[in-house]
Amino acid sequence: MSGSRILGTGSALPRRVVTNAELATRVDTSDEWITARTGIRQRYIAEPDETTSSLAIAAARAALEDAGIEPGSIGLIVLATATPDQTFPATATKVQAALGCNGGIAFDVAAVCSGFLYALSVADSMLKTGMARRALVIGAETFSRILDWEDRTTCVLFGDGAGAVVLEAPGGSADGAGILGTRLHADGAQHDLLYVDGGPSTTQTTGHVRMRGPEVFRHAVVNLSDVLKEVLEETGVSAEDIDWVVPHQANARILDATARKLGISPDKVVVTVQDHANTSAASVPLALDCARKDGRIKPGDLVMLEAMGGGFTWGASLVRM
Ligand code: UT7
Repeated sequence: MSGSRILGTGSALPRRVVTNAELATRVDTSDEWITARTGIRQRYIAEPDETTSSLAIAAARAALEDAGIEPGSIGLIVLATATPDQTFPATATKVQAALGCNGGIAFDVAAVCSGFLYALSVADSMLKTGMARRALVIGAETFSRILDWEDRTTCVLFGDGAGAVVLEAPGGSADGAGILGTRLHADGAQHDLLYVDGGPSTTQTTGHVRMRGPEVFRHAVVNLSDVLKEVLEETGVSAEDIDWVVPHQANARILDATARKLGISPDKVVVTVQDHANTSAASVPLALDCARKDGRIKPGDLVMLEAMGGGFTWGASLVRM
């Protein structure tokens, strides 16, 4: 049986674009290094008046409009973020208030760059058990606020943005659309390879991102190809049948290496890292929305979503659009 189906997608980006060349005037780096090592050419950076919730609300409104439904029918909001507006309440509740669909369920999920995959799976499970009929699943970040702008090994890699999907509980439709299978994992033993060096219960500060990039890179390629294989096995689908892979956008070289390992043509991989950089939990729904809106992903396509991030956490989900 298919899982919940995606009725619409939306995304939002801050107003300001920061190119590699502009960054190189502030940090000891170069456009050549960033482009060659990561594929990133620019990123969007939030202005002081732009927040995780404002980006999330804009993405959610765009997804609702795309789905052609009113906010009033949304009974569940699951928002993935590592950069909430406040320690509490959940940023999802701010989105709920802005959309005026108060009274349903709203909460945040913290799984960093895999957050959207975790949120999608949680929402799908809750819709299947009848907790709500329609959900908004959002990935939204202002990662620029937790970057150490003196650390060139991390600050050039990330950007801000948000993406959202409207999900509807399975039922009735004969077209086979919906989430076909999902696998999620975490390995808390890898904490020190990617983390933020602050938090309410430790330093009482927000902290900054710390990453041992080359080690994360190696784990990412292995973990992502393993979890993609698991989802293919679970759903009985072969790699050739996939129309599009929509990966977390951390590094173009990770996307290439993972696709190559699975024998998936690079032409089937949606790549937006050049425009957005790594937007953590926002990157998968942002890329999904871009590829739907530019006409690449069409109704009926078989789409693999995948991500890996701090924790470590990682996961993949196969969806018939
Ligand atoms: O979203 C969560 C998942 N995150 C990821 O998947 C990120 C995974 N890791 C990566 O994408 C890559 O490891 C990086 C892009 C972070 C780094 O690329 P790399 O090819 O692994 O480079 P490196 O860290 O091995 O550094 C190579 C050199 C070093 O200089 P030396 O020691 O060889 O002299 C660095 O100091 O590049 C230097 N370097 C830079 N140079 C110019 C590091 N950052 C920069 C920079 N500009 N921004």
